[in-house]
Amino acid sequence: MNYNKRTISDGDFRGKKVLLRCDFNVPLDKATGAITNDKRIVAALPTIRYLLDQGAAVIACSHLGKPKGTWKPELTLAPVAERLGELLGRPVIFAHDIVGEDARAKAAALQPGQIMLLENLRFDKREEQNDPAFARALADMADVYVSDAFGTVHRAHASTAGVAAFLPAYAGFLVRKEISLMGKALMAPNRPLVAVLGGAKVSDKIGVIENLLGKADTILIGGGMAYTFIKAMGGSIGASLLEADRIDFARDMLEKSRQSGTRLLLPVDTYIGDRFEAGCQKKLVPAGEIPDGWMGMDIGPKTVALFTDAIRRSGTVVWNGPMGVFEFPEFAEGTRAMAQALAESGADTIVGGGDSAAAVEKFGYADQMTHVSTGGGASLEFLEGHNLPGIACLPDR
Ligand code: 3PG
Repeated sequence: MNYNKRTISDGDFRGKKVLLRCDFNVPLDKATGAITNDKRIVAALPTIRYLLDQGAAVIACSHLGKPKGTWKPELTLAPVAERLGELLGRPVIFAHDIVGEDARAKAAALQPGQIMLLENLRFDKREEQNDPAFARALADMADVYVSDAFGTVHRAHASTAGVAAFLPAYAGFLVRKEISLMGKALMAPNRPLVAVLGGAKVSDKIGVIENLLGKADTILIGGGMAYTFIKAMGGSIGASLLEADRIDFARDMLEKSRQSGTRLLLPVDTYIGDRFEAGCQKKLVPAGEIPDGWMGMDIGPKTVALFTDAIRRSGTVVWNGPMGVFEFPEFAEGTRAMAQALAESGADTIVGGGDSAAAVEKFGYADQMTHVSTGGGASLEFLEGHNLPGIACLPDR
């Protein structure tokens, strides 16, 4: 996969209408519908400001949630238009449909330096079907397509991939930043390259482990997924998370790590709880010695020291997935300590989106990372080395 894509600095957008795909899929408060984290809107601002300053008219578009082709008022993008307007300090015109009369009229009247936002793309089922007629209708409103929705580049949808067949296509600054930093970490990292992998399930990380074996110098495995590995090594894991159908995979990876030159480190001690609940009874045991009925909830201090040492010696760290149940305060230390180790490492530090991004934010280390990805599923698939449709559709530089 070529990560050197044509970007908006390579084009001239004066007087052009730009269809700009953003990822404004922001979390909403269930009760009030208010935006609870506007990080993804903020991340799109450099591209939007650049295009508007260049004299482009910007037709922004995004999905929000999973309405699956039905019109769901609670998933309207209207609050996003309002927040975007506040952040930009200029009005954002809101279209009450996607490629209907309102959108087309507002797009036709849009002047250089003005911005509008279309209604939630996924209100139309043709978006996720990558329907060419829908992609064409989106394209018809504009002269140029810019993709800045990194969080959605793993989706082959009309607005993320299909539309690039109908318009000259460019990457925005966010997509450029994400793919150049994560691309470098995978293809030409400052060595040693250390990957910190966690999260509940081995099955979610199979592709990443396979892709990184042989590329990374060290892989540190924590979180719920570690117990399947420990079981594969003959340890007792009590009532910890286990994917029995992945034990062979774990064994295979342990074997391959020996041949590939990638060191695979597992926890050596574990904080366990007697039930999956904040405030449960807590004990520290050696990894692989978890009594029946108890479950592993966090990595222990010896593991923190072991992992921190590997991170301290690294040139690049890629982190995806928490080390324990960090939403319970008594089991948050392993994840917090990894965030701190990355922050203090002096290495290039890349944090995959989703839970690990939430963790570095929660513990106050986000600003000290080289890059915190705005993509959850997208950054995971990137680390798996997949050819992502929203990147593949953009011309190389
Ligand atoms: C995300 O939140 O990861 C992206 O916006 C993609 O959303 P999706 O998983 O609903 O396609």
